[in-house]
Amino acid sequence: MHPHLETFQSDCADVVAENSGPSEIVRRLAPQMRKLLRAAPEFLEPCHRLGRPDQYARNLIFAGHDDSLSLFTLVWAPGQWTPIHDHGTWGVVGVVEGVLEEQSFVRVDHDVDAHRDEGIELLPGGLVLLPPGAVATFVPNPDHIHVTGVPANRGPVLSLHLYGRFLNAFHVYDKAAGTRHLVEAEHTEPGDDVPRRVA
Ligand SMILES: [Fe+2]
Repeated sequence: MHPHLETFQSDCADVVAENSGPSEIVRRLAPQMRKLLRAAPEFLEPCHRLGRPDQYARNLIFAGHDDSLSLFTLVWAPGQWTPIHDHGTWGVVGVVEGVLEEQSFVRVDHDVDAHRDEGIELLPGGLVLLPPGAVATFVPNPDHIHVTGVPANRGPVLSLHLYGRFLNAFHVYDKAAGTRHLVEAEHTEPGDDVPRRVA
């Protein structure tokens, strides 16, 4: 792994090991992500830039041995979007190339129960446009819910996504039905050229 990535992973592991809580973790890791973005031209390899014609692509850069961290590149062609989803952990996002769009959603059902899969009421929240060099963070409250992607009339995007676990599955929400279900997400491992699903 490139020395920039080794340093970043080590710094992240140190912050997480202090166990100071999600908001403090992302507050401390956001500047580290900004620094990593500046070094991206030096450490990004062809396997990190793999895209997909059918959906946005997730390419793993590293995952911690103890499941406490993972860093992916996400590669977006114009018109590619996530479904409405959550993460089950904190996250730090940095944009390398292009302008990434994020639409947040807020859970407004009464007596919000983080483990309930029905009776979920979502309202659209704010929207942000993240240009190259931008860093955004989120924490579970009880979970951060959003849609991310690129409109069809905008250029492609490459972004870095750091999570507080190995993010291989997340809830996808059906806003109209008020439900959600767990979805396993495909990704490429370092050096792969075909996406795989890792349970
Ligand atoms: Fe997300």
